Amino acid sequence: MVFFFKYIQLLRYAVVTGANKGIGLETVRQLAASGVTVLLTARNEKRGTDAVASLHGLGLSNVLFHQLDVQDPQSIQALADFIRTRFGKLDILVNNAGASGVIVDEDGLRALNIDPATWLSGKATNMVQDVMKTTYDSAIGCLSTNYYGVKNVTKALLPLLQCSTSGGRIVNVSSLRAELWRIPNEQIRSELGNLETLTEEKIDGFVEKFLHDLKNNELEVSGWSKMLPAYSVSKAMLNAYTRVLAKKYPEMCINCVHPGYVDTDINWHTGIMTVEEGAQGSVMLALLPQGGPSGCYFDRTQVGEF
Ligand SMILES: NC(=O)c1ccc[n+]([C@@H]2O[C@H](COP(=O)([O-])OP(=O)(O)OC[C@H]3O[C@@H](n4cnc5c(N)ncnc54)[C@H](OP(=O)(O)O)[C@@H]3O)[C@@H](O)[C@H]2O)c1
Repeated sequence: MVFFFKYIQLLRYAVVTGANKGIGLETVRQLAASGVTVLLTARNEKRGTDAVASLHGLGLSNVLFHQLDVQDPQSIQALADFIRTRFGKLDILVNNAGASGVIVDEDGLRALNIDPATWLSGKATNMVQDVMKTTYDSAIGCLSTNYYGVKNVTKALLPLLQCSTSGGRIVNVSSLRAELWRIPNEQIRSELGNLETLTEEKIDGFVEKFLHDLKNNELEVSGWSKMLPAYSVSKAMLNAYTRVLAKKYPEMCINCVHPGYVDTDINWHTGIMTVEEGAQGSVMLALLPQGGPSGCYFDRTQVGEF
């Protein structure tokens, strides 16, 4: 009996959001292969259960499905209730779900034939302006997923992560588009980079300011990034939120990670790395030993500069 309770305590439980495909699905596979019981979540039930079936087909019976739309408060609450009732705790949360925030003319984008180096350096910015459009609605969808979605899921699951006997792990999947040097406005850069004065309210204020500037066609004059503007802002704010959260919960390991430039739907398959490579950073951070780094930004598996 004692052995049984010790065994139950040793079991680790993880949630991965947006895990029906891409880096999220591969993150679930790698975590499950390392012995973690993983809740694969997806907003669409059919896509999610198909993904779980594909992993069961590989012999990974320790993967379960639960619906989760990170934009929907009721869906978030239902997930939290399920975990509380079924597991009584959570050890790992990987906030992976993401949206690009642009409407893309995919044929036009392909015709530009932009090479990966040009993409990553930021030199493609002017080239893509005609084929990638940011509308107010697409920006709202992006920020509601990549920033507010992460915050709401995290807030709902934090009490369960605090029940983890190994100290909870939170991995926020970010992007190199969030790196502060890419934001032209010096004041925004310096305020986001100053952890002493950074607060959640301040970060929310930047999001509101961005949306105001977008509505008034003032993004460039206000010094926001021209490349994937809503996506870049959502991930920069996500990085800032990660730091604030890590400071507030020092017993946990809370980090953000750029997965690499990976061949998935979100970048219209312009990426060059495999999902196996792309999931490595998230998995490493999800499995950090106690006392591991927290409040850091990783470029794949290496600590990087915010
Ligand atoms: N690929 C890269 O090169 C790259 C680079 C930097 C960062 N990232 C980040 O990596 C993460 C994973 O992206 P990926 O490359 O694997 O792209 P992906 O294959 O397009 O996967 C995105 C996932 O997010 C889900 N999602 C979107 N909105 C959601 C919502 N409201 N609720 C729940 N799930 C939602 C999608 O579900 P549906 O199938 O239902 O749409 C899908 O499962 C994202 O955060 C992305 O920003 C990727």
